[in-house]
Formats: sequence, structure tokens, C-alpha cells
Amino acid sequence: MGITKRKFGETKNGECVSAYLLKNANGMEAEMLDFGAILRVLKVPDKNGAFLDVVHGFDSVKGYEDHNDTYYGATIGRCGNRIAGAQFVLDGKTYPLDANDGKNNLHGGFAGYEHRMFTVREMQDNDTPSVCFSLHSPDMDQGFPGNLDFCITYQLTADNTLQLSYAAMSDQKTIINPTNHSYFNLNGHQSGTILDQEVMICADAFTWADAESIPTGELVSVEGTPMDFRSFHTIGERIDQEDTALKYGNGYDHNYCVNDTGKMKKIAALRSARSGILMEVESDLPGMQLYTGNFIKGNQTGKGGVCYPRRSGVCFETQYYPDAIHHPEFKQPVYAANETMRSTTRYHFSILS
Ligand code: GLA
Repeated sequence: MGITKRKFGETKNGECVSAYLLKNANGMEAEMLDFGAILRVLKVPDKNGAFLDVVHGFDSVKGYEDHNDTYYGATIGRCGNRIAGAQFVLDGKTYPLDANDGKNNLHGGFAGYEHRMFTVREMQDNDTPSVCFSLHSPDMDQGFPGNLDFCITYQLTADNTLQLSYAAMSDQKTIINPTNHSYFNLNGHQSGTILDQEVMICADAFTWADAESIPTGELVSVEGTPMDFRSFHTIGERIDQEDTALKYGNGYDHNYCVNDTGKMKKIAALRSARSGILMEVESDLPGMQLYTGNFIKGNQTGKGGVCYPRRSGVCFETQYYPDAIHHPEFKQPVYAANETMRSTTRYHFSILS
């Protein structure tokens, strides 16, 4: 039980990268890096009491540096998901961003937070061990206004919940929309595709998006479509159906409107009959991107020499709606100068009864 720190490796610039391992009394483990505040390992008990590592990752810093388009376990910032046309206007001023996804901005741009060195600000070693990674993002970093102080705290509770708490503040009005990009596979990261695992999402609608995954502004009911996860369905059941949304997303890569209350609530779940593991996701944000690893190319050697095939992990990216800045009707990820942004995501693990 507690926190263990070890040297993990070095960046190509020679910075020393450490790994922080949190362990609770049940033996559940979460390991994070100060490089990218990445969640690298998450070991949870299965129905036989064996521990499975349920997230994708690499065994070296180089792995993360070389593969910068899959974002395994990454902390995404300053703005998760897409901003159309890679620019936005705030108080009459235009801010150009990196066009790193066609002509659009994705996950902040080329120099995302997932490749930055974070500082460990605080560690609490008790029965709910936690570690807080902080980052200073200067004014115009990635093109966004304001000097921003950002931190993410990972905490492992006694009831097998990994809690991610974000806090950020800028000295100017700016966009802040961080998320975590972990790929979950409840049969273990090495086990192949997630097509036979079941998803449930507490959402009646999703944001309709065009072929570039940019929302049109329309919220579309999931009723009668392969997008409906209000009850459990396997990921594979409908993923290859003839359907425009699935065609545009290459599978599931969509933002669900998770019945927003502004408060912490259960928004989704993933379960596997094979391992008997249930993961429940809670968030206080209005959106969640369900992404089924459609762009994993099968050419990456991950932890333990495992090669991850296409659709071998599923992401539940808690977020403000994509491109919200161009849709005043969406809840805005815009924070005033000196206003604190706070948000929490929880992944709770248990055994199916
Ligand atoms: C997000 C996007 C996807 C894809 C992945 C990274 O989840 O929505 O389209 O870009 O990141 O591969």
C-alpha cells in the first residue's frame, strides 16, 4: 500500500522521467509518469483474483515520443478534441492554432501536454494515495492565450476507484478542456480487440459531426441507431453497420451528450464477461468521446512487447463538446482570468455479480 517512485527513463532531451506507483489495500495499482502525466499501468483484480493490466502503454519514454498520434494514457491539454479550422476568436481577437488533424486542431496541437515534463507538486501516502502533477503553460502556448497553471491529481481509493482531478487557472480569459486518453481493455491490454466487451452510456443524444469529426451543432437522438448504448451492447455488435455516423468516425469516435447536470454522475460503463470486470465512469462534464481505437494501426510494440491491433482499446474521454468554442449553444470551456477550472473523472472497478 502507498506510493513508490522509480526512475523510468530519459526523454530524448536527456530529462529524467520518473514513474509513480500507487497501490491500495486490495492490491490495485496505478502507475503514472511525470512525462505527460501519463497513466501507464492500471492493474485491477479479475473474477479469479488475478490482476490484469487494463490500459495500453509503452515500456520506454521513446515509445511515447515516437508514437504521438495514439495518445496512450495521455493527459490532453490545453483543449481536448477538435477545434474547426484550427483557430478561434475570443473577445474579438483571432487565435490561430496548429492544424494537426487535416485543417483542424486536435488535442491542443503538435506540442501537446502529453509530451511535457510535469512537476510533482504533492504526494499523499495514506490509504488513498495520490500524486499531483503540475505544469506551467505560458501565454500563447500552442496558440492559446494566458499563462496557465495546470495540475492533475491521480488518487487511488480503497474501493478500487482511480480518480482524476483537474485544476487550472490562467491570468487571461482562455479555453481549458483537458481530458485523459487511456485505452481500456478489461481482458488485459495484451488480449486483442475489445469488440466482445460491452459498453453502456447514459446519453440520449450525441453531437452529429461531419466527415472530419467536426460537430454541425445538431444533437441527434441515439434512438433506433447503432449509437444507442443506453443499455449494454458489445462494441462489435453494430460497429460495422452501414451507418453514416459510424462511417465518418471509422467506427465509434463520437461525443455523447451525457445528460448534463453539472454535478458528478455516472456516465458510462464497460464490462467483460470473460474477466468479470466492470468499470464505471463518472464525470461532471457535459460530454464524453467514445473512441474505439479505430486508428490504431497495429504497428506499435507496447508494454511487454505486445503489438496492439486495431480496436484493441476503448477510450472514454470526458470533455466539453468538441469545437464548443464555435457553437455558443454548447456549454463553453472558456474560463475568465483568475477563474479556477475544476473537473473530476472517476474510473471505478468491481467484479460482475
Ligand atoms: C481522439 C479522436 C480520434 C483520434 C484519437 C487519437 O479520440 O477523437 O479521432 O484522433 O483521439 O488517435
